[in-house]
Amino acid sequence: MSSSNAVVLENIGKIFGSFKALNNVNLEVQTGKIFGLLGPNGSGKSTTLDIIMGFKKPDNGKVSLFGQNITNGRLVREKIGLMLQETALFPYLTVKETLQFFASLYEKSFPIDELLKMLKLESSVNKQVRKLSGGQRRKLDLGVAMIGLPKLLILDEPTTGFDPVSKHETWETIKKLRDSGTTIVITTQIMDEAEYLCDKLAILINGEVVIQEEMQLIKDNYNNKYNKQSSVVIHFAEETKLILESFPDAIKLDEHGCRWMILNQDVAKVTQEVHQIAAKEKIKVDDIDVKDSSLEEIFIELVKDSEGADKVEKLV
Ligand SMILES: Nc1ncnc2c1ncn2[C@@H]1O[C@H](COP(=O)(O)OP(=O)(O)O)[C@@H](O)[C@H]1O
Ligand SMILES: [Mg+2]
Repeated sequence: MSSSNAVVLENIGKIFGSFKALNNVNLEVQTGKIFGLLGPNGSGKSTTLDIIMGFKKPDNGKVSLFGQNITNGRLVREKIGLMLQETALFPYLTVKETLQFFASLYEKSFPIDELLKMLKLESSVNKQVRKLSGGQRRKLDLGVAMIGLPKLLILDEPTTGFDPVSKHETWETIKKLRDSGTTIVITTQIMDEAEYLCDKLAILINGEVVIQEEMQLIKDNYNNKYNKQSSVVIHFAEETKLILESFPDAIKLDEHGCRWMILNQDVAKVTQEVHQIAAKEKIKVDDIDVKDSSLEEIFIELVKDSEGADKVEKLV
């Protein structure tokens, strides 16, 4: 096993009752990189994180952190910073007091002023936790995860609910941490986030790793495999029922059937047909957006291949 790996999972299995939540999961997270764990709800992401952190014991397989086998041993917890989806903080402490409290638990900690600046939380420094906005609160959660200068940072959907500015600020913070040598494992449902941040990606479906590759290789392999052309996203002004007659594989992107995605197509042909459909239905086409293959499409096709289209709607 290479010592350049921060986390290695070998043949991990986890069964709840008679339900196989994880089946022979193998993951290699390289030290100093950002590793993304993607998958639809219930695919086993949180269970995988719990096993990495030692909160849950796998039924079989082996977990190593920085070359140390932890499956039956004690977890070297001070090496890990953790940002769960919901973190308990003290509501009446201010931002600064919160960071001071958590800093006091560690021998060496992140300088608080520097951390506040990096997180763009300076203006909220004297605000009580209970008065923070959702985005400010998540930034503080991230600060708490970072304060002990962890070698490994585990982030469970860190920017869910952020406004775009906060989201980009947090992405920059995560990249800076990576550049200073921290290894990061992140789960996300936001494809842009995975695409922007991750050096390597694993996609979990039904507890199995269906793809694990460097980000660039995922895109290259996928493009070769499916001989991809461009994909088209169409916004109709009203719902249409006819589109599936022309494009049976079209993917509905909203509840009503106004937004559709059509994969792997000759754009000119799609555009022409879309206008014919609109004319037949007497509706307007608000927008036609042509996209090169993006991670979102790759993800949707993978899930669709393995689970059927009904699950896809929940993702987009
Ligand atoms: N303690 C548990 N007991 C029984 N089933 C569980 C338990 N924890 C998770 N599961 C099931 O295991 C599957 C994977 O869950 P989870 O790892 O939370 O998925 P994700 O984080 O990808 O949404 C789900 O079907 C979930 O219902
Ligand atoms: Mg989860």
